[in-house]
Formats: sequence, C-alpha cells, structure tokens
Amino acid sequence: MSQQPFHILVVEDEPDQRSLICQMLTANNYVVSEADSVEQAILLLKKSVPDLIFSDWKLGQLTGMDLLTYVRREHAELGFIIATAYGTITHAVDAMQAGADDYLSKPYQRQSLFMAIDKVAKSLKLKQHNRRLASELSQQQELVGLVGKAPCMQKVYTRVQRVSATDATVLIGGESGTGKELAARALYQLSQRHHKPFVAINCGAIPESLAESELFGAEKGAFTGATIQKIGKLEAANGGTIFLDEIGDLPLLQQTKLLRFLQEGVISRLGQNGEIKLDVRVIAATHRDLPTEVAEGRFREDLYYRLNVVPIHMPPLRERQEDIGRLVEHFLKLHSSQYKVALPKLTPMTLKQLLDHSWPGNVRELANRIERFVLLGDEDEMVDELACQPKPLNTSQFSLPEQGLEWEVFEKDCLEQAMDKHQGNRTKAAKFLGLSYKAFLYRLEKYQLV
Ligand SMILES: Nc1ncnc2c1ncn2[C@@H]1O[C@H](COP(=O)(O)OP(=O)(O)OP(=O)(O)O)[C@@H](O)[C@H]1O
Ligand SMILES: [Mg+2]
Repeated sequence: MSQQPFHILVVEDEPDQRSLICQMLTANNYVVSEADSVEQAILLLKKSVPDLIFSDWKLGQLTGMDLLTYVRREHAELGFIIATAYGTITHAVDAMQAGADDYLSKPYQRQSLFMAIDKVAKSLKLKQHNRRLASELSQQQELVGLVGKAPCMQKVYTRVQRVSATDATVLIGGESGTGKELAARALYQLSQRHHKPFVAINCGAIPESLAESELFGAEKGAFTGATIQKIGKLEAANGGTIFLDEIGDLPLLQQTKLLRFLQEGVISRLGQNGEIKLDVRVIAATHRDLPTEVAEGRFREDLYYRLNVVPIHMPPLRERQEDIGRLVEHFLKLHSSQYKVALPKLTPMTLKQLLDHSWPGNVRELANRIERFVLLGDEDEMVDELACQPKPLNTSQFSLPEQGLEWEVFEKDCLEQAMDKHQGNRTKAAKFLGLSYKAFLYRLEKYQLV
C-alpha cells in the first residue's frame, strides 16, 4: 500500500451493518467515510475522492450498480468492491462486467473483506506505478544510448522495455544507420541476461562457405582446414543473447538450420552426429524488407514468422526531424570527449542547415559529419557538403508529363544541368544527383559528356 493512508468510502443503507464495517476498517488503519445511499455517496465524491468504494448492492431505490456506473464514468481509476446478496451470482457477474474490481457475496467473513481490499489496493498501486512509468516514458529523451524524444522513438522505447523482460525473439527493421544495432544492445542491457554473453554476428559479412561453421560450429576434420573443433557463435552465446545482424543476408541453407534452432532449441556442429541443446535469446536485425525477400524466394517464410515474434521498427531520421538538434548536441559531446578536445560550437546558420538536411544515411551519417567537424573544426566544409546534398524529390513535387518522356534524353539533360550548376565539378554534380562518383562517371561516358 502507498505511504499515504488508504481511504475507503463505505456505502451501506443498513445503519448497524455500516457502523460495524466502518469500525472494522478504522481499527485496521484505513481512513473511512460513510454514506447511506447512492445520492449521498455521489455528494461525498464531489468533495473528496477516496481510493476505494465498498458498496452494498441494494441501497433503497437505487443499487450499488448505479453507483458503479457513475464512478466508472467520473473516476475511472477508483477501486470498487460490491457486496451482493447470497446466491445472486448473476449480480456478481454483472458487477464485474460493469468494471467492479471485486465482489463479496453476503454473508462474508471479515477476513474475506480484508483480503479483497488488500487485493484491490495492490492492483491500484500497480496501475499507478504503470501510469507513472508510462508518463515518464512519454518524456523519455534516451534509452541506453539511443537518443531521441520524438513520438516514434517513444514507441521504440516502450517496446524495447516491454520485451526486454522476456526471452521473446525480436526482429529489428529499419533503414541503414537508424540505430538497429544500438536498439539490440539496449534490449540486451535491459534484459535479465545482461550479465551473460552478448554475441553479435553480421550474417552479411561471412562468406557463404564459412557461414555454417561460424554460426553452428564444426567438429575437428569436418572440412578441409578444420584442424580443431570450432565453437559456433550460437553455442558461444549459450545462456545469453545472440544478435543476428543483417539476417536478410543469411544463406538459405543456414536459414534452415537456424529455423531448427528456433523451433527445437537444438543445433549440431558441422560434422557432429548428435545435437546440443542451447538456451539463447535471439535478436535479429535487417535493413531489408523481409516480406519482399520471402516473396522473391530469398528468405524462408517459416523463418520469417519465427523471427518476427516482436517486430521493432527503427524510424528514419526524416520522420523524427525534431530529434536532429538533440542528436547533434549528443554527438558533439560524445566526440569531443572521445578526442579530448574542447566542445565546439556551431553557428545558428550551420545548425539550421543540419536541421534542414534530408539525411539519407540517417543517424550514422549525422554522427560521421559531427565527428569530422569535431576533429577538423571546419564548419564551412560541412556546410558546403550539406548544400551539395540533394533533398529527395517526392512525387508531389515532380510529376511526369502527360505525353510521357524519352528517358535517355531526360537523363542526359539532368547530367548536363547538374554539371552546369556545379561549374563542371563532377564530385559536386554527382552528389547533387544522389549518385556515387562511379555511377555518375559511367553515365557521363554513356552520353559522351566527358
Ligand atoms: N538514436 C540514436 N541515438 C544515438 N546514436 C545513434 C542512434 N541511432 C544510431 N546511432 C548511432 O549511429 C550509428 C549507426 O547506428 P547502428 O549501427 O545501430 O545502425 P544500424 O541501423 O545497425 O545501421 P546498418 O543498417 O547500416 O547496420 C552508430 O554510431 C550509433 O551509435
Ligand atoms: Mg547494423
């Protein structure tokens, strides 16, 4: 129970009964007020709201149900216990359906009354606690290294916190540089497994021929060059958490083995006859759209469903522009302390350009720019680069002409205009069109513009 005294309003029209209940409750340190009718109870509620109402069913012309209806409309959080007449189970059902927290059928033992009150008090306390947590979360500016206050980040925080308490498999999606790995680490840090291993593996970075032994291990002599027994990443993570980064890039053969692990909790090392039972929590991430990968036959559908138990979507920076200022500040502090240099200041103009930029590379791009700025202190360079970066056109800004267009003429014209705009500077023109230098040069050559 809370530190403050717990206040109960007793509503009972039978005076002896009412005074008996009130005495019992007062003797047990509850603060008690009393009413002999629904009307009087409502008048009292207008003056002060208790923590809980204990009401009789039959109260003159009206019933405890009328009071309950009023209370649920006006004071949704108030505890409510109703006493129903002996044998009237339908009353109890009706009351619970109308939102009573508990009921007692008459005649009831003193002990039952206290138990019911205690139960409701505990559940009220829990509800209050959850509400406090939720409101703290709604203002949360960061979570274990993840910075951001935008509503879409609040959703991420709530989800990360909820699932961190469980062993549920989590699939983190989102564009490149949006903080998928950071979210996976936050989830691990907040979980009960935080003192157990966290093993990360980038499924996109292992050659296909080594993927199996990397993930599942291999017995000595299982393949040429396997001179000693190799423990795979999943086994190394036993008792802890594995982070399967870029899961969308996992070769199909390994997908099958991983599915077996997710379904049965067992693996076999390459070349091993038996199997090993493991207890590993799986967090996976990918920048790919897995349903598309499934549709195109590159990703097993059954594995997708096994992984997608709890999806977490990391929003791109363009959907949370209000966080850019906060992130800039965060990276300025982070990198200046990392390189032990004085915290640099940005002019309002530069800051505005940072805020207006479209950040196709998301937080990673922002972090890199700030890091370079901290090291070089060259604000002009940063501004120049940002100015060269395109803002992606969307279809509302640009619609194709009714009569259609000739693609190659259009493309050539774009290249020429971009070159003109940047006085023949190819690097800047390529950036302006959102192309890599190589891709830009290829096109210049294609149209003989070099
Ligand atoms: N919300 C954030 N707050 C602070 N730093 C962030 C945030 N999101 C990302 N970062 C930083 O941006 C960089 C990229 O983050 P991370 O590696 O987690 O992204 P990712 O989604 O896994 O990218 P990729 O798909 O390219 O692997 C890291 O330096 C990370 O610390
Ligand atoms: Mg990543």
